[in-house]
Amino acid sequence: MSEQLIVSQSQGGSSTPGARPAAGCLMVIFGASGDLTKRLLMPALYNLACDQLLPSGFAVIGMAKDEWTTAEFRERMARDLKEFSTRPQFNQEVCDEFVARLHYTPGKFDDPPAYARLAELVERLDGEQGADGNLLFYMATPPVVFGMISSHLVQAGFQKRERGWQRVIVEKPFGHDLASAIALNREILKHWREDQIYRIDHYLGKETVQNILAFRFSNGIFEPLWNKHFVDHIQFTVSESVGVEGRGNYYERSGVLRDMIQNHMFQMLAYVCMEPPSSFQPNAIRDGKARLLEAIRIMKPEEVEHYCVRGQYGPGRKPDGTPVTEYRKERDVNPQSMTETFAALKLFIDNWRWEGVPIYLRSGKSLWKRGTEIIVEFKKAPEVIFRGTAVDHLDTNRLIFHIQPDQGIELRFHTKVPGPTLQLQPVNMRFSYGEAFRAGRGTGYEVLIYNCMIGDATLFSRTDLVETAWRIAQPIMDGWEARKPADFPNYAAGSWGPQASRLLIERDGRKWTEIINREVLMKVPLFQSCDPILLNVLVMLLKPVGFAAGKLIIQKGDTGQEMYLICRGEVEVLDANDQPIAKLKDGDYFGEMSLLLAQPRTASIRAVTSCDLFVLEKAGFAKALDDHPQFAKAVLETARKRYQVAVPG
Ligand code: BG6
Repeated sequence: MSEQLIVSQSQGGSSTPGARPAAGCLMVIFGASGDLTKRLLMPALYNLACDQLLPSGFAVIGMAKDEWTTAEFRERMARDLKEFSTRPQFNQEVCDEFVARLHYTPGKFDDPPAYARLAELVERLDGEQGADGNLLFYMATPPVVFGMISSHLVQAGFQKRERGWQRVIVEKPFGHDLASAIALNREILKHWREDQIYRIDHYLGKETVQNILAFRFSNGIFEPLWNKHFVDHIQFTVSESVGVEGRGNYYERSGVLRDMIQNHMFQMLAYVCMEPPSSFQPNAIRDGKARLLEAIRIMKPEEVEHYCVRGQYGPGRKPDGTPVTEYRKERDVNPQSMTETFAALKLFIDNWRWEGVPIYLRSGKSLWKRGTEIIVEFKKAPEVIFRGTAVDHLDTNRLIFHIQPDQGIELRFHTKVPGPTLQLQPVNMRFSYGEAFRAGRGTGYEVLIYNCMIGDATLFSRTDLVETAWRIAQPIMDGWEARKPADFPNYAAGSWGPQASRLLIERDGRKWTEIINREVLMKVPLFQSCDPILLNVLVMLLKPVGFAAGKLIIQKGDTGQEMYLICRGEVEVLDANDQPIAKLKDGDYFGEMSLLLAQPRTASIRAVTSCDLFVLEKAGFAKALDDHPQFAKAVLETARKRYQVAVPG
């Protein structure tokens, strides 16, 4: 999970503007010896301590099966905090104070005496700390034990306590399908009231996700455009460059639909598309989300193949070139696995606002880059009014929410290129969190834990939200279960995903917007010496295109309209008899000659493997050559060497 911005103004200094420390409470973590505790919960609590948002009456009690003492727990957490802290400077003083509030009681989750010991410890610390009887239980455990832990807490008399509040945070996965989610909800609701249950979706802890609502409902200019009359479609992409990273056991039973789409992506979708709430009260927001999710059209079995694409990665390479083994060879993965590591969906929202506006979602592991983006693509302006000018086509306007790792918002539009004739170039207006705020980095869990402590459930899911989200995913899972994929693995690790994902959107006359950032461009040798202005221009001008193995990319004799850069893949240059005479790979480029010499293509180029390419169109190429001498020099040098021809210098 990524680091998130937390609005902390200084290291150990003033706290978040407008926020006060929560009221005193004890936090009991079940599963305290696990990864989640050390990697995320402890760093998040430490960040809250640095920002003076932890209550003065506060202590953590860790419980897990490991036979640790409190001293050992403290020692381990202090060590792990140093490793996993997200702050640029480590504040030893705050850390020491925080670690002194940690306690541990060993116990198996099915062992009644362990809960009796826990109850005693709670009683003692409550008195010592002045926690007012408030208790926050954090289930950092697999969901199968939520019910068991809850019923042992009841038996140990916790619910008979008369002072303070009791809340429970439960971690994902919340169910495996609709039936198990309903069963889990029932189980938990046997022991807790709905207003005591805080179901975590860590995407809702991300500043950039929370900002979607703030952006939509605090700026008057966008709401009037936010509907089927102005929006052509919306794209959601969560691309991960990592594979399953040793989590094969879990992932095999999950797949990307359950792991990312049904929860994190549907939550973002609800934020982007919900109706304006009547207030920012937790239930007003959650009601709005629930209504939106209810309006998503449930797929019929025969529609699944048409509207959904799934993929699984084969061998390939990471963006930095290191080899990646195929999914089926990962640890704890079935060598014949049919689990999808990639999925793309096309959904519709059947309501007044969004009728007929397609919503495209895609997510996958082992893709070419890490990046979460939401793109609201508006309808095109009429091209026809530019007839008789040099403008032959218009791009659409796009509003882009950069969720991570870039964090910001961008609006893309056209502008006139300076000069005597009317020529247009796409440009962007961009807000970047890093530039606008002096913000620290957090885990994303700070805001969730803090909100639970203050009793604000806005960022947490609800019984109806969870079940509605499963209701949308269930027919897709059923459809996929009924028809096993014949083509797995169907995308190379490090690529842009399966070809079918492109077709899903391209058959509607649209394209996925691949957000290219400077980091990606810097991996292409040609751009390594380019100045930042050119990189910014290229980020806007380069368009992604994919070719299947064996496809002809350039045909000899055609008029050259663009040059290509190989992001990933291999192509071959063919002679007059269609015989290969050279091969080009990742980072190479081709097609520039006919642009340089304004001549027809001198050779054909064919994809050897499936290829992900960037296209730079003629006008952009000419502009880059004119305005950026370094770029022109590099291109001309290569052309001279590669083709031994004289090109205009
Ligand atoms: C988790 C999934 O919920 O989210 C992981 O189980 C995934 O598979 C992770 O990698 C992504 O989180 P983030 O915050 O890094 O986008």
